[in-house]
Amino acid sequence: MSILGIEAVVFAVKDLEKNTQFWIDFGLNSVSSDETESVFDVATGSKLIVRKLGDDRLPAESFPGEGVKLTYWGVDTQDSLDDYTSRLEADFDVIRQDDGSVLCQAPDGQWIGLRVWDKKVVFSQPDAVNAPGNIKRLNLHRTWRHKAIPKTINHVVFFSGDYVASFEFYQKYLDFRYTDHSKGVGIFARPDGTHEHHSIFWVNDQLPVAPGRFGFMHIAFGLDDIDEVMLGANIMEKRGWTNTSNNSSGGISRHRISSAIYYYCDMPCGGEAEYHADTDYVDDNWVPRAWDFKFGSLLWSHNTPPIFRGDDIPWDMEFDLDQKSFEPFRISRKPTGDLSKITEEDEHAL
Ligand SMILES: [Fe+2]
Repeated sequence: MSILGIEAVVFAVKDLEKNTQFWIDFGLNSVSSDETESVFDVATGSKLIVRKLGDDRLPAESFPGEGVKLTYWGVDTQDSLDDYTSRLEADFDVIRQDDGSVLCQAPDGQWIGLRVWDKKVVFSQPDAVNAPGNIKRLNLHRTWRHKAIPKTINHVVFFSGDYVASFEFYQKYLDFRYTDHSKGVGIFARPDGTHEHHSIFWVNDQLPVAPGRFGFMHIAFGLDDIDEVMLGANIMEKRGWTNTSNNSSGGISRHRISSAIYYYCDMPCGGEAEYHADTDYVDDNWVPRAWDFKFGSLLWSHNTPPIFRGDDIPWDMEFDLDQKSFEPFRISRKPTGDLSKITEEDEHAL
């Protein structure tokens, strides 16, 4: 029984035309578009659906304003779907849709959909990396690309009033695996049927940059390598999309947690779309870790955000197989210490 990853996300937006253009420029494949919705997909078959705010096909409002209002998780078989449904149904209201999918609102407010997914196989060939005395490309140049083409939806990120409880709901009812904990900031997790470091990340909604309630933060897409990430970033900039990372913080960066290369683009509906490459891939032999958030957030950054500068960042990481790090963070508390100093410029390293 497996959940294979994000099968679809459904956005609610004020300006459908502008948001549609954003995703075209971002490199997604356009499936259909009319005056009420635009549908895009990526190589795995994962879909990104954009609808106008107030569209009656959207679930009941879980947070005010724009963003991802519904995340569909793709399940491997109908038997698996039935099993997950009965587990949810024992404790929560479940809505069965005509297409066979099932909806449920998690206690933190997030609307979750489940449906059977015929996930497509994806092929990638990042260019080998040369180093002195370690020649992987001899007389062979790197790939010349003319655009960035995201292949996967890697993860979604939401603010939560109790990020430990948000994870534990997914762990109990949907068999999600705990991968890492950025202490005071949030928990990273993945379903059992996919191997990206995380498919979902819940962020403490009491951080200074957070809205103080449940809400959508960002969505990330998998690309082949750093070259494709930077090509995408250059194209988005050329087409006039604002990029907070360029203006104030970050730019091209690499997280220590997850090892991923990343670059954020501001979406016209608020929140960010993330180009993402070279993340850790993990399975059930992975040992989760609990990190000081400053140490875990950045390995390096083109333009290091203020709170991540300086030589006083502790190399603080502990293995956390038993989830012992959760206890002090079980309910969202007003952030103290460095957590209370996070600014918008620091946000893009989280
Ligand atoms: Fe991310």
